[in-house]
Amino acid sequence: MGFYIIYLYDKISIYRQHIKDTTMRIDEHPILDFPKKQKIFFMFEGKQVSGYEGDTIASALHALGIKTLRYSIEHNRPRGFYCAIGNCASCNMIVDGTPNVRTCIVPLKENMVVERQMNKGVFK
Ligand code: FES
Repeated sequence: MGFYIIYLYDKISIYRQHIKDTTMRIDEHPILDFPKKQKIFFMFEGKQVSGYEGDTIASALHALGIKTLRYSIEHNRPRGFYCAIGNCASCNMIVDGTPNVRTCIVPLKENMVVERQMNKGVFK
């Protein structure tokens, strides 16, 4: 029994280390190829983070494990990806000072400044 608990502890530690060192991107797949693309650096909530060429803002954040993109207008509940095609406004964020940017369809660019949006958002 004790050995089994240590075995499980090791497995969990290895899993946690793996999660800590990687993002949510799929690097290897038995059938599909994922060529490495140019890394793009941008600011999120005052911290420099990175995505890759071809990402949308929301997909880059999602790959980093950041799933709350805004807070709802009435009850301030966290919101994230919903439709991912620009139809629902669940992913609205403040991008370079402009509120209500649908980040699921806006391509990521170098040095963008991205912030979570509260309520209806305000211009900065
Ligand atoms: S997730 Fe619906 S508009 Fe972006």
